[in-house]
Amino acid sequence: MLAALALAALAACDGGASPADGANGAGARGANANANAGNGAKLVKISTRAAATHGQSRAEVYAQVRRMTALGKQIFFDPSLSGSGKMSCATCHSPDRAFTPANALDVQMGGADMHRPGMRAVPTLKYLQAVPAFSEHYHDSDDEGDESVDAGPTGGLTWDGRVDHGADQARIPLLSSFEMASTPHKVTAAVRAAPYANAFREAFGEHVFDDEDATFKAVLKSLETFEQAPDVFYPYSSKYDAYLAGKATLTAAELRGLQLFNDEKKGNCASCHISQRAKDGSPPQFSDFGLIAVGVPRNRALAVNRDPRFFDLGACGPERTDLDHREEFCGLFRTPTLRNVTLKKSFFHNGIYHSLEDVMRFYSRRDTNPQEFYPVVKGRVRKFDDLPRRYWTNLNTDAPFDRKPGDAPVYTEAEIKDVIAFLGTLTDGWQPTAH
Ligand code: HEC
Ligand code: HEC
Repeated sequence: MLAALALAALAACDGGASPADGANGAGARGANANANAGNGAKLVKISTRAAATHGQSRAEVYAQVRRMTALGKQIFFDPSLSGSGKMSCATCHSPDRAFTPANALDVQMGGADMHRPGMRAVPTLKYLQAVPAFSEHYHDSDDEGDESVDAGPTGGLTWDGRVDHGADQARIPLLSSFEMASTPHKVTAAVRAAPYANAFREAFGEHVFDDEDATFKAVLKSLETFEQAPDVFYPYSSKYDAYLAGKATLTAAELRGLQLFNDEKKGNCASCHISQRAKDGSPPQFSDFGLIAVGVPRNRALAVNRDPRFFDLGACGPERTDLDHREEFCGLFRTPTLRNVTLKKSFFHNGIYHSLEDVMRFYSRRDTNPQEFYPVVKGRVRKFDDLPRRYWTNLNTDAPFDRKPGDAPVYTEAEIKDVIAFLGTLTDGWQPTAH
């Protein structure tokens, strides 16, 4: 844990802290995360005391990380940074729901008047320390023991992997017209007037408020540092973690669910949502962070989708812009972790489903009973209605997506219950005494 903090601190000092760096410290995805941290890294330079800390002692580095974490936490909960004055990061990322919304809306409302709908469901902020920087061709020695295997596009933050660092990510909701609808000017003014303004000076230097750009970047960096606090964001305190450590027993239903989850001929879930420890012994993240097209149905309740020509194509746009015109990226979204998934209230990138039963039925019956998920027009099912046909070659075709009408669904209803019971073991904060 100490090593993780020091790493995060040193990285924070040179502006190169990334989710991948955190992973190295925690021992997850080891060398690969390291290799990745190198390529996509966009450095954020802070022209403050934090940047001039290379000569710091270990103790000073720890102290600086503690200061930035405490500040990041206060900023995370502070609505005065937003255009409306009513919205903080925590409005959408509620700590008691693994940093997902407390409500069950498909997408959240935001903007200066709090009436502007978003276009994507809110992901959890936990276990992001393990997400590698985005790469088009990811090589992982955990893949069949062979680093030469190309696992395809992997990593990056947000559903489409368009930023690599928490600081760059934080810029998005702060400035988005349908989220916090703020400006760097408003953010810096709010921080200057905040009860924690003095603590901010202590962390970033007397003169941090002299330069608006420096203040804004220090805000972003503080948020990123807070998001890397291990006890809050990656405690690995679920029943499943205790089970892997030999300190808990799964119930019969949970065990059946785990087998159904892993079974390559059934759900094959673990092929993307990794359930085993990595080769270096680090705990499973329940995602390989691959960008994958699973053909989630169009959510016709979303405002953006009132326009029949609009498609959220994930990695190829429109939110992400560097890979537009790259057809092979259309329809791809980053595989989310399933840790704490039972605390969520809307699922998939467009928030179309609101129960794990519905998500499981989708995986189980998408190809055997497609009419249950997609619109039927003149007696014909319009499968994959949220992905133009020319991109259908991007859809994943491994199990559980290898069936056809007439085949048996992947799971029975009883098996679905078991898989959900297993997913319940992935929630942090498990207490042995309570069982
Ligand atoms: C209006 C709701 C809303 C607010 C407010 C909000 N977020 Fe988010 N957050 C989202 C949504 C939606 C996404 C997914 C965005 C996407 O994929 O394009 C997201 C994604 C993220 C991610 C990436 C998660 C991942 O899985 O890669 C991080 C980190 C994050 N938010 C942090 C923050 C921080 C820090 C703040 C405050 C500065 C904040 N968010 C404010 C809705 C919100
Ligand atoms: C080929 C890779 C792959 C396989 C196999 C797979 N998933 Fe997923 N899973 C994904 C991707 C990608 C998403 C996000 C898709 C989207 O929103 O467009 C996802 C999303 C989910 C979600 C929603 C999580 C959230 O936060 O919204 C759940 C729950 C889930 N998967 C469970 C499972 C289960 C259970 C299985 C086995 C039956 C399974 N997955 C098999 C890649 C996969």
